[in-house]
Amino acid sequence: MTLNRPDALNAISAEMREALPRAIRDADQDETVRVIVVRGAGPRAFCAGADIKEFAPVASPAEYRQSRVHGSWIRGFDEARKPVVASIHGFCLGGGLEIALACDIRIAARDAVFGFPETGLGIMTGVGGSQRIVRVLGLGLALDLVLTGERIGAERAHQVGLVSRLVEPEGLADATRALAETIAAKAPLATVFAKEAVRKGSELELGAGMKLEVDLLSLLLNTEDRLEAARAFKEKRKPAFKGR
Ligand code: COA
Repeated sequence: MTLNRPDALNAISAEMREALPRAIRDADQDETVRVIVVRGAGPRAFCAGADIKEFAPVASPAEYRQSRVHGSWIRGFDEARKPVVASIHGFCLGGGLEIALACDIRIAARDAVFGFPETGLGIMTGVGGSQRIVRVLGLGLALDLVLTGERIGAERAHQVGLVSRLVEPEGLADATRALAETIAAKAPLATVFAKEAVRKGSELELGAGMKLEVDLLSLLLNTEDRLEAARAFKEKRKPAFKGR
Protein backbone atom coordinates (compact mmCIF):
# COMPACT_ATOMS: atom_id res chain seq x y z
CA MET A 1 0.00 0.00 0.00
CA THR A 2 1.45 3.33 -0.98
CA LEU A 3 0.57 6.60 0.73
CA ASN A 4 0.55 8.53 -2.47
CA ARG A 5 0.53 12.34 -2.20
CA PRO A 6 4.23 13.04 -2.65
CA ASP A 7 3.64 16.78 -3.31
CA ALA A 8 2.25 17.08 0.22
CA LEU A 9 4.82 14.64 1.69
CA ASN A 10 1.98 12.08 1.77
CA ALA A 11 0.05 14.05 4.38
CA ILE A 12 -3.17 12.27 5.33
CA SER A 13 -6.17 13.84 3.60
CA ALA A 14 -9.86 13.15 4.24
CA GLU A 15 -9.82 11.03 1.09
CA MET A 16 -6.95 8.94 2.43
CA ARG A 17 -8.74 8.45 5.75
CA GLU A 18 -11.64 7.00 3.76
CA ALA A 19 -9.48 4.83 1.51
CA LEU A 20 -7.00 3.44 4.04
CA PRO A 21 -9.26 1.11 6.07
CA ARG A 22 -10.83 -0.24 2.88
CA ALA A 23 -7.43 -0.90 1.30
CA ILE A 24 -6.20 -2.72 4.40
CA ARG A 25 -9.40 -4.75 4.70
CA ASP A 26 -9.28 -5.76 1.01
CA ALA A 27 -5.64 -6.83 1.29
CA ASP A 28 -6.34 -8.68 4.53
CA GLN A 29 -9.18 -10.62 2.91
CA ASP A 30 -7.31 -11.36 -0.31
CA GLU A 31 -6.20 -15.00 -0.14
CA THR A 32 -3.18 -14.27 -2.34
CA VAL A 33 -1.80 -11.67 0.10
CA ARG A 34 0.41 -12.91 2.95
CA VAL A 35 1.95 -9.66 4.16
CA ILE A 36 0.83 -6.05 3.79
CA VAL A 37 3.52 -3.40 3.31
CA VAL A 38 2.81 0.31 3.82
CA ARG A 39 5.20 2.84 2.30
CA GLY A 40 5.27 6.45 1.17
CA ALA A 41 5.51 7.68 -2.43
CA GLY A 42 8.27 10.03 -3.55
CA PRO A 43 11.76 10.58 -2.23
CA ARG A 44 11.07 12.70 0.86
CA ALA A 45 8.58 11.10 3.18
CA PHE A 46 6.76 8.10 4.52
CA CYS A 47 4.09 10.51 5.74
CA ALA A 48 4.23 14.03 7.23
CA GLY A 49 1.09 13.56 9.33
CA ALA A 50 -2.43 14.87 9.02
CA ASP A 51 -3.05 17.35 6.22
CA ILE A 52 -2.74 20.65 8.05
CA LYS A 53 -4.26 22.53 5.12
CA GLU A 54 -7.51 20.65 5.67
CA PHE A 55 -7.65 21.65 9.35
CA ALA A 56 -10.83 23.61 10.06
CA PRO A 57 -12.99 24.32 13.10
CA VAL A 58 -15.10 21.27 13.91
CA ALA A 59 -18.87 21.69 13.88
CA SER A 60 -19.35 19.98 17.19
CA PRO A 61 -16.65 18.53 19.45
CA ALA A 62 -19.15 16.00 20.80
CA GLU A 63 -19.92 14.78 17.29
CA TYR A 64 -16.22 14.60 16.49
CA ARG A 65 -15.57 12.51 19.59
CA GLN A 66 -18.40 10.11 18.75
CA SER A 67 -17.20 9.63 15.19
CA ARG A 68 -13.66 8.89 16.33
CA VAL A 69 -14.55 6.63 19.23
CA HIS A 70 -16.65 4.38 17.05
CA GLY A 71 -14.77 4.24 13.84
CA SER A 72 -11.31 5.70 13.63
CA TRP A 73 -9.67 5.08 10.25
CA ILE A 74 -6.68 3.55 12.03
CA ARG A 75 -8.82 0.58 13.10
CA GLY A 76 -8.11 -1.06 9.75
CA PHE A 77 -4.55 -1.59 10.95
CA ASP A 78 -5.63 -2.98 14.30
CA GLU A 79 -8.10 -5.35 12.70
CA ALA A 80 -5.72 -6.78 10.10
CA ARG A 81 -5.07 -10.46 10.77
CA LYS A 82 -2.04 -10.54 8.49
CA PRO A 83 1.30 -8.94 9.31
CA VAL A 84 1.57 -5.28 8.35
CA VAL A 85 5.04 -3.84 7.72
CA ALA A 86 5.84 -0.11 7.67
CA SER A 87 8.65 0.62 5.23
CA ILE A 88 9.81 4.08 6.28
CA HIS A 89 11.98 6.68 4.61
CA GLY A 90 12.21 10.44 5.11
CA PHE A 91 9.67 12.23 7.28
CA CYS A 92 7.55 10.07 9.52
CA LEU A 93 5.73 12.66 11.62
CA GLY A 94 2.51 12.97 13.58
CA GLY A 95 -0.16 10.81 11.98
CA GLY A 96 2.57 9.23 9.84
CA LEU A 97 4.27 8.02 13.00
CA GLU A 98 0.88 6.91 14.30
CA ILE A 99 0.43 4.78 11.16
CA ALA A 100 3.92 3.34 11.55
CA LEU A 101 3.19 2.53 15.20
CA ALA A 102 -0.03 0.77 14.21
CA CYS A 103 1.98 -1.54 11.93
CA ASP A 104 3.46 -4.77 13.27
CA ILE A 105 7.03 -4.31 12.08
CA ARG A 106 8.90 -1.09 11.25
CA ILE A 107 11.86 -1.10 8.89
CA ALA A 108 13.52 2.27 8.24
CA ALA A 109 16.02 3.86 5.92
CA ARG A 110 18.85 5.85 7.51
CA ASP A 111 17.27 9.09 6.24
CA ALA A 112 14.07 8.55 8.23
CA VAL A 113 13.05 11.16 10.80
CA PHE A 114 10.44 10.60 13.50
CA GLY A 115 8.48 12.97 15.70
CA PHE A 116 5.19 14.13 17.14
CA PRO A 117 4.74 17.84 16.22
CA GLU A 118 1.09 17.91 17.33
CA THR A 119 1.30 19.96 20.53
CA GLY A 120 3.04 22.72 18.56
CA LEU A 121 -0.11 22.86 16.44
CA GLY A 122 -2.41 23.09 19.43
CA ILE A 123 -3.56 19.51 19.11
CA MET A 124 -2.35 16.07 20.13
CA THR A 125 -2.16 12.60 18.65
CA GLY A 126 -5.58 11.26 17.78
CA VAL A 127 -5.33 7.73 16.41
CA GLY A 128 -3.48 5.95 19.16
CA GLY A 129 -0.05 7.55 18.91
CA SER A 130 0.12 8.52 22.59
CA GLN A 131 -1.03 5.03 23.57
CA ARG A 132 1.15 3.01 21.23
CA ILE A 133 4.39 4.98 21.64
CA VAL A 134 4.43 4.31 25.38
CA ARG A 135 3.96 0.58 24.77
CA VAL A 136 6.89 0.56 22.35
CA LEU A 137 9.32 2.91 24.11
CA GLY A 138 8.24 3.09 27.77
CA LEU A 139 6.97 6.12 29.66
CA GLY A 140 10.08 8.32 29.84
CA LEU A 141 11.03 8.37 26.19
CA ALA A 142 7.41 8.41 25.03
CA LEU A 143 6.68 11.52 27.10
CA ASP A 144 9.90 13.15 25.90
CA LEU A 145 8.87 12.72 22.25
CA VAL A 146 5.21 13.61 22.75
CA LEU A 147 5.85 16.71 24.88
CA THR A 148 8.88 18.20 23.12
CA GLY A 149 7.87 17.41 19.54
CA GLU A 150 11.59 17.00 18.85
CA ARG A 151 12.52 14.82 15.92
CA ILE A 152 14.81 11.83 16.20
CA GLY A 153 16.76 10.28 13.38
CA ALA A 154 16.65 6.69 12.19
CA GLU A 155 19.83 5.70 14.01
CA ARG A 156 18.39 6.76 17.37
CA ALA A 157 15.00 5.27 16.48
CA HIS A 158 16.74 1.95 15.85
CA GLN A 159 18.77 2.22 19.07
CA VAL A 160 15.66 2.69 21.21
CA GLY A 161 13.57 0.07 19.40
CA LEU A 162 11.15 2.34 17.58
CA VAL A 163 12.18 0.54 14.40
CA SER A 164 13.50 -3.01 14.41
CA ARG A 165 15.51 -2.81 11.18
CA LEU A 166 17.72 -0.08 9.74
CA VAL A 167 19.00 -0.03 6.15
CA GLU A 168 20.59 2.29 3.62
CA PRO A 169 17.99 4.42 1.77
CA GLU A 170 18.76 2.83 -1.58
CA GLY A 171 18.32 -0.63 -0.08
CA LEU A 172 14.97 -0.01 1.62
CA ALA A 173 12.73 -1.48 -1.10
CA ASP A 174 14.80 -4.65 -1.43
CA ALA A 175 15.19 -5.10 2.31
CA THR A 176 11.45 -4.62 2.79
CA ARG A 177 10.68 -7.17 0.09
CA ALA A 178 13.14 -9.65 1.62
CA LEU A 179 11.54 -9.16 5.04
CA ALA A 180 8.04 -9.64 3.58
CA GLU A 181 9.15 -12.73 1.67
CA THR A 182 10.65 -14.24 4.81
CA ILE A 183 7.30 -13.89 6.55
CA ALA A 184 5.32 -14.95 3.47
CA ALA A 185 7.29 -18.20 3.26
CA LYS A 186 5.95 -19.34 6.65
CA ALA A 187 2.69 -21.19 7.20
CA PRO A 188 -0.02 -18.54 6.71
CA LEU A 189 -2.35 -19.62 9.50
CA ALA A 190 0.51 -20.02 11.96
CA THR A 191 1.63 -16.49 11.06
CA VAL A 192 -1.82 -15.03 11.61
CA PHE A 193 -2.25 -16.81 14.96
CA ALA A 194 1.27 -15.98 16.15
CA LYS A 195 0.61 -12.31 15.40
CA GLU A 196 -2.66 -12.51 17.35
CA ALA A 197 -0.91 -14.15 20.30
CA VAL A 198 1.74 -11.44 20.51
CA ARG A 199 -0.58 -8.50 19.88
CA LYS A 200 -3.55 -9.52 22.03
CA GLY A 201 -1.27 -11.11 24.61
CA SER A 202 0.63 -7.86 25.08
CA GLU A 203 -2.55 -6.37 26.54
CA LEU A 204 -3.23 -9.27 28.92
CA GLU A 205 -1.66 -10.43 32.16
CA LEU A 206 0.80 -13.28 31.62
CA GLY A 207 -1.52 -16.13 32.63
CA ALA A 208 -4.32 -15.01 30.33
CA GLY A 209 -1.82 -14.43 27.53
CA MET A 210 -0.43 -17.93 27.94
CA LYS A 211 -3.93 -19.38 27.80
CA LEU A 212 -4.58 -17.47 24.59
CA GLU A 213 -1.29 -18.80 23.22
CA VAL A 214 -2.15 -22.43 23.95
CA ASP A 215 -5.69 -21.99 22.55
CA LEU A 216 -4.28 -20.66 19.31
CA LEU A 217 -1.59 -23.35 19.16
CA SER A 218 -4.28 -26.02 19.67
CA LEU A 219 -6.05 -24.74 16.58
CA LEU A 220 -2.85 -25.16 14.56
CA LEU A 221 -2.15 -28.73 15.65
CA ASN A 222 -4.49 -30.35 13.13
CA THR A 223 -3.74 -28.13 10.17
CA GLU A 224 -2.53 -29.67 6.93
CA ASP A 225 0.35 -27.20 6.95
CA ARG A 226 1.73 -28.54 10.24
CA LEU A 227 1.76 -32.09 8.90
CA GLU A 228 3.26 -30.86 5.62
CA ALA A 229 6.05 -29.03 7.50
CA ALA A 230 6.96 -32.22 9.41
CA ARG A 231 6.89 -34.27 6.18
CA ALA A 232 9.04 -31.70 4.38
CA PHE A 233 11.57 -31.76 7.24
CA LYS A 234 11.90 -35.55 7.01
CA GLU A 235 12.15 -35.40 3.22
CA LYS A 236 14.71 -32.55 3.40
CA ARG A 237 12.71 -30.20 1.17
CA LYS A 238 10.89 -26.89 1.54
CA PRO A 239 7.29 -27.19 2.73
CA ALA A 240 4.48 -26.24 0.35
CA PHE A 241 2.03 -24.43 2.61
CA LYS A 242 -1.63 -24.10 1.71
CA GLY A 243 -2.98 -21.99 4.55
CA ARG A 244 -5.14 -24.84 5.88
N1 COA B 1 -0.12 18.81 5.71
C1 COA B 1 -0.27 19.42 4.52
N2 COA B 1 0.75 19.69 3.68
C2 COA B 1 1.98 19.33 4.07
C3 COA B 1 2.22 18.69 5.30
C4 COA B 1 1.09 18.43 6.13
N3 COA B 1 1.22 17.77 7.29
N4 COA B 1 3.55 18.46 5.43
C5 COA B 1 4.12 18.95 4.31
N5 COA B 1 3.18 19.47 3.49
C6 COA B 1 3.38 20.10 2.18
C7 COA B 1 3.93 21.51 2.31
O1 COA B 1 2.90 22.41 2.55
C8 COA B 1 4.59 21.68 0.97
O2 COA B 1 3.63 21.93 -0.02
P1 COA B 1 3.50 23.40 -0.70
O3 COA B 1 4.85 23.65 -1.28
O4 COA B 1 2.41 23.23 -1.69
O5 COA B 1 3.17 24.31 0.42
C9 COA B 1 5.16 20.29 0.67
O6 COA B 1 4.39 19.40 1.48
C10 COA B 1 6.62 20.15 1.02
O7 COA B 1 6.79 20.52 2.37
P2 COA B 1 7.75 21.73 2.84
O8 COA B 1 7.27 22.23 4.15
O9 COA B 1 7.94 22.72 1.76
O10 COA B 1 9.11 20.90 3.01
P3 COA B 1 10.28 21.21 4.04
O11 COA B 1 11.41 20.31 3.67
O12 COA B 1 10.54 22.66 4.13
O13 COA B 1 9.70 20.75 5.47
C11 COA B 1 8.53 19.31 7.00
C12 COA B 1 9.31 19.42 5.68
C13 COA B 1 8.00 17.90 7.13
C14 COA B 1 9.46 19.64 8.18
C15 COA B 1 7.38 20.33 6.99
O14 COA B 1 6.65 20.15 5.77
C16 COA B 1 6.42 20.17 8.12
O15 COA B 1 6.70 20.61 9.23
N6 COA B 1 5.24 19.58 7.86
C17 COA B 1 4.21 19.42 8.84
C18 COA B 1 4.51 18.26 9.74
C19 COA B 1 3.48 18.19 10.85
O16 COA B 1 3.38 19.06 11.69
N7 COA B 1 2.71 17.10 10.85
C20 COA B 1 1.75 16.82 11.88
C21 COA B 1 0.40 17.30 11.51
S1 COA B 1 -0.73 17.00 12.86
